[in-house]
Amino acid sequence: MVLTVEGLKKSFGAISALSDGRLSLMPGRVTALIGENGAGKSTLVKILTGIYQPDAGSLRLDGVERVFAAPQVAQAAGISAVHQETVMFDDLSVAENICAGHWPCHTRGWRKGMIDWTALLAQAQAVLDRLGVSLPLQARCGDLSIAQKHLVEMARALCHESRVLIMDEPTAALSHREIADLYRLVRHLKTQGIAILFISHKFDEIFEIADDYVVMRDGAFVAEGQIADTTTDALVAMMVGRAMGAIFPKRSVPIGAPILEVRGLSHPTEFEDVSFTVHAGEILGFYGLVGAGRSEVMQALFGLTPVSGGEISLDGQTLRVNSPKDAIAAGIAYVPEDRQGQGAILPMSIRDNITLPLLERITGGWLLSPKNEGAIAETFARRLAVKAPDWHCRVDTLSGGNQQKVVIGKWLATTPRVIILDEPTKGIDVGSKAKVHDFMSDLVAEGLAVILVSSELPEVMGMADRIVVMQEGRPYGSFERADFATNPAQGAAMLARAATGG
Ligand SMILES: Nc1ncnc2c1ncn2[C@@H]1O[C@H](COP(=O)(O)OP(=O)(O)OP(=O)(O)O)[C@@H](O)[C@H]1O
Ligand SMILES: [Mg+2]
Repeated sequence: MVLTVEGLKKSFGAISALSDGRLSLMPGRVTALIGENGAGKSTLVKILTGIYQPDAGSLRLDGVERVFAAPQVAQAAGISAVHQETVMFDDLSVAENICAGHWPCHTRGWRKGMIDWTALLAQAQAVLDRLGVSLPLQARCGDLSIAQKHLVEMARALCHESRVLIMDEPTAALSHREIADLYRLVRHLKTQGIAILFISHKFDEIFEIADDYVVMRDGAFVAEGQIADTTTDALVAMMVGRAMGAIFPKRSVPIGAPILEVRGLSHPTEFEDVSFTVHAGEILGFYGLVGAGRSEVMQALFGLTPVSGGEISLDGQTLRVNSPKDAIAAGIAYVPEDRQGQGAILPMSIRDNITLPLLERITGGWLLSPKNEGAIAETFARRLAVKAPDWHCRVDTLSGGNQQKVVIGKWLATTPRVIILDEPTKGIDVGSKAKVHDFMSDLVAEGLAVILVSSELPEVMGMADRIVVMQEGRPYGSFERADFATNPAQGAAMLARAATGG
């Protein structure tokens, strides 16, 4: 046993985030920590890494009772972490971020004490080599994609001589290939005797990479065991405290008239000649690898990215979208993939976040009615199962998955004609995921058109009426539900081939 914690407690004011945190990590083994959104996983991680101090409980490293009074202390003891929320200095370079806190300095000569840039670059490169990934070392971190930012975080965690590596939903923003690289890396670290704690909501990953599991529910330890002795159903039942029904509640809804039509949409660098139509009552899936250009197309539809050509029309009328304001006015809503960066306003309350895009409607252009606002926020927060003490609490005090639900609620509340959901269930637990899908079915039943961008094949196959597969900025093909849903195994293989160009 490298690291053992018992009876960990942590409260924030009246809110108990953790009431009985319990965990043991062994060298050379991967332990999966699983639990619903808000179960206390990230809080436990923050205690292990010295970011939070527990109110009670014990932490032993190699059998010796320890207190990690600050993150540096935990790090010096060999505990590294890749956190759920990327913590990055956007204005610094990739190399500077990777070696943050240990920039090498010249030790002699007139530059003594100054940063040794050559050594810094070499050090960062060495870590990337160990990871087996390539990144532009001198690029500004703020300009990287989310996936690349995660790799920088991972590299930073490995910059230290770690004995324990904690990964809080590390694959949430990675492509299939990057995930495969991550698995390779994890296996390699195992052979070096590193103990790994892996947090994920994806069961296929847990079964692929973990040796042991620990289940948490409502801030407390529920069960532990070996992955080889359990099943997904058993784990889900322990997580939610009951058995779960169907994961994708696809309902059949009559498909109506075309709402949004896109013809030959092009961007100077990101995508080319994209055409598709979405009808009332239809869920149109967009599948592809990370980097295939799906998000960029959606950002263009929402007026966030200028296009170099093509036409967008809504209800047969040509539409000019030069800004999100135009898109919202036309009835297009967009729930971005990067909900931290583009989605929620963290220091504001749940209520204010959800009602923000609707202010004009609620006030009738006049006075704010807090009662009205509260009612709207409550409806959406409930339908998405946001776990929070009340609708007045700040979004930054919610767990990662619950923050995501607030952003989805915020855009759904605008009652658009077309709603674009970019990876809507990333970071969302199984139970809440079914709620989000159910909500999507409600929306189309009300006559909305939904565009679902997802890298998760079971999700697009489960929910979409039609799937557009994109590959390197171009639509590779479009598939009807009958083509992929009749024989799911064949359908999945067909879509995966289309996405990779096979
Ligand atoms: N700083 C804080 N102030 C108040 N409450 C907090 C704070 N941090 C966490 N909480 C609460 O503690 C609970 C546990 O949150 P935590 O982030 O540990 O959940 P999690 O298991 O990581 O969930 P997810 O899967 O959504 O990431 C949540 O109910 C959350 O609202
Ligand atoms: Mg979390």
